Amino acid sequence: MKLVEAPDYMSMSKQAADYIATRVREEPTMTLGLATGGTPLQTYRYLIQDYENKETSYQHVQTFNLDEYLGLPKDHHNSYYTYMKQNLFDHIHIPPSHTHIPNGMCTDVAQECEMYEKKLDQAGGMDLQILGIGENGHIGFNEPGTSFLSTTHLVKLTESTRKANSRYFSSMSEVPTHAITMGIQSIMKSKEIVLLVSGERKSAAFRRLMNKEVSEEFPASALCQHKNVKIFADHEALG
Ligand code: PGA
Repeated sequence: MKLVEAPDYMSMSKQAADYIATRVREEPTMTLGLATGGTPLQTYRYLIQDYENKETSYQHVQTFNLDEYLGLPKDHHNSYYTYMKQNLFDHIHIPPSHTHIPNGMCTDVAQECEMYEKKLDQAGGMDLQILGIGENGHIGFNEPGTSFLSTTHLVKLTESTRKANSRYFSSMSEVPTHAITMGIQSIMKSKEIVLLVSGERKSAAFRRLMNKEVSEEFPASALCQHKNVKIFADHEALG
């Protein structure tokens, strides 16, 4: 794992976005794995700026999102579909048919998971996966205890994750209890991983990752077994 240190959130986001945009220009037909949450927001803003200034093309890029809440319609203001549209897709001229996000309103969850994993495989797996990390070490919505062999699956969110995400909802009771997420194996199949870590809130998880002790109790530790991981972290996260 290669660590890129930045003094603050803005600078971490700029460095990550510059790197990702460069990779897209090098490989314009790439399959890009995307994450949601607070951390990647500024990286996406810089990617939009880069698109506007340098005309980096997303016409032939395919994207796959890590996860989606179960039970939220696409147009719900808290769905990850809406998040991606508002924070990236609507601004980079990517064909909507090239963007893939699990369907949180599917009637057959097992079938949805199977189809999503199949689509990923048909696309040849991810070339570059953007990841955040949860305070409990989750990646995607793979909570502690998830098998490293997991593929796309249904998860029951832990109370700590629901609480962390409740800041986007008007009350805790509105936070979905379940989600569909790529599994750890799905993530590990990506040729390259870019992990974004920011803020004091993440410093314990970051320290634990850097201990490099691999355990399913700490999902992010799977990344220690991946050959091509870049971690962009700011000073608050570094502790
Ligand atoms: P955050 O979430 O970026 O909103 O902190 C990251 C995660 O939970 O994976």
